[in-house]
Amino acid sequence: MQPMLSVQGLTKTYKGGKQALSNVNLDVAKGEILALLGPNGAGKTTMISIICGIVTATSGKVLVDGFDNVSDYRQARGLVGLVPQELTTDAFETPWDNLCFSRELFGLKPNPALVEQILKDLSLWDKKDTRIMALSGGMKRRLLIAKALVHEPQLLFLDEPTAGVDVALRQDMWNMVEKLRQQGVTVVLTTHYIEEAEAIADRVGIIRGGELLLVEDKTTLMQNMGQKQLLVDLKGPLSCVPESLASLGFVLAKEGLQLLLNYRGNDDTLDVGAMLSAIHEAGVEVLDIHTQQSSLEEIFIELLQEAS
Ligand SMILES: Nc1ncnc2c1ncn2[C@@H]1O[C@H](COP(=O)(O)OP(=O)(O)OP(=O)(O)O)[C@@H](O)[C@H]1O
Ligand SMILES: [Mg+2]
Repeated sequence: MQPMLSVQGLTKTYKGGKQALSNVNLDVAKGEILALLGPNGAGKTTMISIICGIVTATSGKVLVDGFDNVSDYRQARGLVGLVPQELTTDAFETPWDNLCFSRELFGLKPNPALVEQILKDLSLWDKKDTRIMALSGGMKRRLLIAKALVHEPQLLFLDEPTAGVDVALRQDMWNMVEKLRQQGVTVVLTTHYIEEAEAIADRVGIIRGGELLLVEDKTTLMQNMGQKQLLVDLKGPLSCVPESLASLGFVLAKEGLQLLLNYRGNDDTLDVGAMLSAIHEAGVEVLDIHTQQSSLEEIFIELLQEAS
């Protein structure tokens, strides 16, 4: 099936010589949720701005559902919704007028029922006639999300939609993304909250210094890159790891009160029963046993370190 978004050999050098993107290639399937992760200045906003036609690429090509975003600009742009990173709203308008006008800009028929639904979904209905300048920062951000949705885009970009927002808005935003997914909308989001990517993305792309380092299915990434740990709490502290356990890979933690074994997340061969027998045979008394898996955040930090 034709991807909803195809980015081919995208390069951007800003005036002044800063290369913000170098040869980025990326396909996003219809209905997929992709999280783009990367440190400040990695090129995330540049890439989104090029796709949405706000910034021109130095070279390369962007297709939105097959439409070239330069030669078929209107068709491509009509399919795209953007929640920008920076707050930009018209101070004197009201949310209601702002949304109705945004829809008009895309040449669509008025749809008051849809505008009402979107305002309600984003808890802005009671503010529909308030001047935008009198809204709080979080409410303005909700309005930006509403504005990106009002022309019913098929491909939605959320550039750090939850930066500096409260827990309630974050939850609303996650619910909204889930609802859009059910409608078949494709979503690309950037975030510095890695648990956000862990919670809602199907695939994760990691970008650094203008290069897309990898794009991987989230579950696969966590299985292949993630560390698992077997943690054995002890009744009394050990001064060193018994030889038989050291040879299995155990090390001491928590000032001798814990035996710890690291193994790869995709390693199904770890025989926990055999490990416990070995501990028992070594005469070590066990208080509790548990396992833990590294988070996407730990994997992300490790990948960035490897790349530097
Ligand atoms: N208009 C511009 N002119 C010159 N350089 C720019 C411009 N916009 C961005 N840059 C530079 O391009 C690089 C990528 O910036 P970009 O905003 O795409 O990063 P980002 O990944 O979105 O970062 P953040 O996480 O901070 O939002 C940075 O070095 C930035 O300084
Ligand atoms: Mg940015």
